[in-house]
Amino acid sequence: MQTNQQWLKLISVCLGAAALVGCTTTSPTPNQRAQITVTPFGPPQNGIAVDRYTLRNKNGVEAAICNYGGLVISFKVPNRWGGFGDVVLGYDNLADYIKDSPYFGAMIGRYGNRIAKGKFTLDGKEYTLAVNNGPNALHGGLKGFDKVVWEPKILARSEGPSLQLRYTSKDGEEGYPGNLSVTAVYTLTDDNALKLEYTATTDKDTVINLTQHSYFNLAGKGDILNHTVMIPADKFTPVDSTLIPTGELKPVDGTPFDFRTSTPIGARIGQDDEQLKFGGGYDHNWVINKPMGKLGLMARVFEPTSGRVLEVLSTEPGLQFYTGNFLDGKLKGKGGWVYQKRNAFCMEPQHYPDSPNQPNFPSVVLKPGQVYKNTIIFKLSVRR
Ligand code: GLA
Repeated sequence: MQTNQQWLKLISVCLGAAALVGCTTTSPTPNQRAQITVTPFGPPQNGIAVDRYTLRNKNGVEAAICNYGGLVISFKVPNRWGGFGDVVLGYDNLADYIKDSPYFGAMIGRYGNRIAKGKFTLDGKEYTLAVNNGPNALHGGLKGFDKVVWEPKILARSEGPSLQLRYTSKDGEEGYPGNLSVTAVYTLTDDNALKLEYTATTDKDTVINLTQHSYFNLAGKGDILNHTVMIPADKFTPVDSTLIPTGELKPVDGTPFDFRTSTPIGARIGQDDEQLKFGGGYDHNWVINKPMGKLGLMARVFEPTSGRVLEVLSTEPGLQFYTGNFLDGKLKGKGGWVYQKRNAFCMEPQHYPDSPNQPNFPSVVLKPGQVYKNTIIFKLSVRR
């Protein structure tokens, strides 16, 4: 039950945000009004309220974000007939996210993806991280950015409803050097794109690789094998059996990793291919054909029954495409859906895995005085 105080908070944020995001003066009907509503999502953590911020644009598209983990907890978008449906996996409450989540919808840091044996050397000094994935470090450690509470602030942006999240990771946290101050801004634009803009600064040389770990199913049910995927990449980074890149940039030509023309996920996923076996499906980094740091298309995914299209754009050089290979029917998510293998896919724009140990990969070093920037966009549309 909502308390009076909570209702007051909700209403005032709605009105405040509607004004802030500059609703048109042509009196849109209430359901066309861009706005943010705030409702409690769980008990406060470390003295900070944990809320669900529902960003709604003028088309009625809604993205709900939680300031715990920067989670995208739902993303409701139309199908080709205009029917709205949630296209991301997750849970109904905070307790389930805290108990056991394979990074559903989460912001990932300090280092998204794997670092071999949880060790790297920077400026001649060796750093040791928690090993939390076989012999390797994964997704920022035991308490990565997916498990911290972020300081929320609703922003006034003309592009659409916008939520800023800030967190300062202390020097030595999870074994990484430097006090790292991170700002993440989610904006839901009127062209139905959920944009995430990261900036970060450090006071000591460090490594950084932030990403977003939403699990998509554009049909909102079933497996994702009929979704078609296009990834504009001539090369990918093959891995060893623990999913650490070998260092090679391998041409996709003639392999099941060639998604340069749109291909159903299921078309080749079961092929007798060593790389697919190591990943249990696709769980690899593609080297996107675009200049470093330039915002560009990383992937286009189409689901034929709903007509929904997801375009992923980013400034990052690589894309981890993961096909939910570790989902195994043990987790019960929103609306009682028991998540099975291949019920979702992730598109994680990032630097290549294990970059701190791979001198030939683009650098992930951030130095004092530099500003780390990374933009990730999930844009939804329909094909009729
Ligand atoms: C990433 C990894 C996968 C897996 C998931 C979470 O996508 O590459 O191997 O760990 O996160 O389950």
